[in-house]
Amino acid sequence: MAATWLKDTVFYEIYPQSFYDTNGDGIGDFNGIIEKLDYIKSLGCNALWINPCYDSPFKDAGYDVRDYKKVAPRYGTNNDLYRLFGEAHKRGIRVLLDLVPGHTSEEHEWFRQSQKDEKNEYTNRYIWTEFCFQGAGDLNYIGGESERSATYALNFFKCQPALNYGFLNPTEPWQLPIDHPDVLATREALKDIMRFWLSHGCDGFRVDMAASLVKHDDEKKTGTSAVWKDVRKMLDEEFPDAAMVAEWSEPPLALRAGYDMDFYLNIPGSGFASLMRDYPVYGKSDKKDNSYFKKDGDGDINRFLDQYMDWYEDTKDIGYISLITCNHDTNRARYTMEPDELKIAYSFLFTMPGVPFLYYGDEIGMRYLELKTKEGGYFRTGSRTPMQWTKGKNLGFSTGCEDSLYLPVDSAPDAPTVESEEANPDSLLNTVRKILALRHKEEDLQADAELKILCREKGKAFVFKRGNLTIAVNPSLKEVSAPVSVDGEVIYEIGKATLGSEIKLAPQTFVIVK
Ligand code: GLC
Ligand code: CA
Repeated sequence: MAATWLKDTVFYEIYPQSFYDTNGDGIGDFNGIIEKLDYIKSLGCNALWINPCYDSPFKDAGYDVRDYKKVAPRYGTNNDLYRLFGEAHKRGIRVLLDLVPGHTSEEHEWFRQSQKDEKNEYTNRYIWTEFCFQGAGDLNYIGGESERSATYALNFFKCQPALNYGFLNPTEPWQLPIDHPDVLATREALKDIMRFWLSHGCDGFRVDMAASLVKHDDEKKTGTSAVWKDVRKMLDEEFPDAAMVAEWSEPPLALRAGYDMDFYLNIPGSGFASLMRDYPVYGKSDKKDNSYFKKDGDGDINRFLDQYMDWYEDTKDIGYISLITCNHDTNRARYTMEPDELKIAYSFLFTMPGVPFLYYGDEIGMRYLELKTKEGGYFRTGSRTPMQWTKGKNLGFSTGCEDSLYLPVDSAPDAPTVESEEANPDSLLNTVRKILALRHKEEDLQADAELKILCREKGKAFVFKRGNLTIAVNPSLKEVSAPVSVDGEVIYEIGKATLGSEIKLAPQTFVIVK
C-alpha cells in the first residue's frame, strides 16, 4: 500500500537549473527553491520532485551522475539541500529527489575502477563483455575507451554506462545472473544511496528509467521487479513513510513491484498523448491536432479512457497513477494549446484519482521554445527554459547578465509571468490555485475516491463521478449534452452548465456538482 501522505498530495516538478537564481551566476540554485517555497505552497502544491541535482559533467542534464552523495556545486552545497528539506517540511511540503539507478556518468569513480585491467571491487559493477572486439549482443555498447580489454553496455547516451543488475536468463558467460554476489552488490549500493538521502530528510524518490535494470527481462519485468520489491522491503523496514514514483508508465507492473505511484507518460500514440499532444513527440506535424482538450479539434476522450480505465481498475487498490501537466522530457502543452484550453485540461488532470504533478511554469502557461540542444536536451530543451517571475530583467529569473543564463528566457512581448498572472483574477495561474484549493477541501477529489464514468460517448458531454461529486467536461467550441441526470450545487465552474434530467454544457465548460 502506498504511503498515506499521498492521499492529499499534489507535486510540483522543479528543473533546478531553471527555477530561480539567487547569486546572479545565471543558473538556478537551492536557495532559489527555498525562497520560492511559499509561492509553491500558494499554488496548492505540497510536494516537490527536483530533477537530478548531484555532481555531474551534465552531458544529460544531471542524469549522468558522477557522485550520488554530493550535490552539484552550481546548485549549492549538501547543507543547502538539507536546509531546503527542513524549510519545505516547516511548510508541510515533502521533497522527492531524482534517483538514477540504471547508469552513472562515465566519470563516476565506480566506472573508473571498473575500467581498470586489474580485477577489483567494481569490475562487475557495470556490464562488460570479455574482449575488446566483442559486442554486447542487442545492447548498445562502447569499446576502445579503457585499459580493460572488453566493451561495456550503455543504458542511454554514450556518457551513461549501464550498472549491472544482471540478466534474467544469462546465455553468455559475461552475462551474470540476478543473484550473482557482484550483481547483488550493485543493489546494495543503490540502497545505500537511498538511505543516505532519506536519513538527511528527503521523503522519497522519482526513479529514472525504473524498468531498465535487469537486462533481457521478460514481458512482466520479473527480474527488474525483484530488485524493486527488495528495495521496497528495505524502505518498509527502515523508512516506512518514504514514497517512490516510477518513470515506467506501466502501472500494473510498477505498482506491483512496490512503487507508490507510476507516471502515465507522453508516449506518442498513447492515451495520455491524445489529451494534449496529438502530434509526434519531436514536434508538430501537418496532420490536424485532434487532442481531446483542443477546442477546435475532433477529440475523443475514449482514446485516453481505453488505456487508463484498464490500468485504474487493475491498480486502484495497490497504488496510484500519476497524471502530469508535462515534464522535462515532454513538449509543454502550451506548444499547441491556449490558456483557455489549458484551464479545462488542468481542471481535469487535477480532479482525477491518483497523485498529479504540475511542471514548473505550466501554471502560468509558459511556452515551448524552439532552441538548440543544451546538456543533452535536444528537443526537450524547449521545455527547460527559465521560470518567468516578473516583467523585469531576465523575467526575474536571475540578476546575471543575459548571456550567462542557463537558457534564454522567453523573449515574446506577451511572455506570461507570475506577476502578470497574479494580477488577473481569471488567469491560468489563479485557475490552478482555485482547482487545487478545492481538491484539498473535498476528499472526493483526492487520490482515493472512486472514479465512475457516466458518459464517454464521442460528441457528447464527458461526465464522471468522483465519490459523490459529478464532473462534466466539454472542451469543444460546440454546445453538448449528455443523457445523465445531474442535480445539486455547482462548486466549480468554467463556462456554463444547465443541470436537470439531461446535462447541457456550453462551449468550453468544466463543472463540478455536489
Ligand atoms: C529519463 C529522464 C531523461 C534522461 C533519461 C536518461 O528518461 O527523464 O531526462 O535523459 O532518463 O537518464
Ligand atoms: Ca545560481
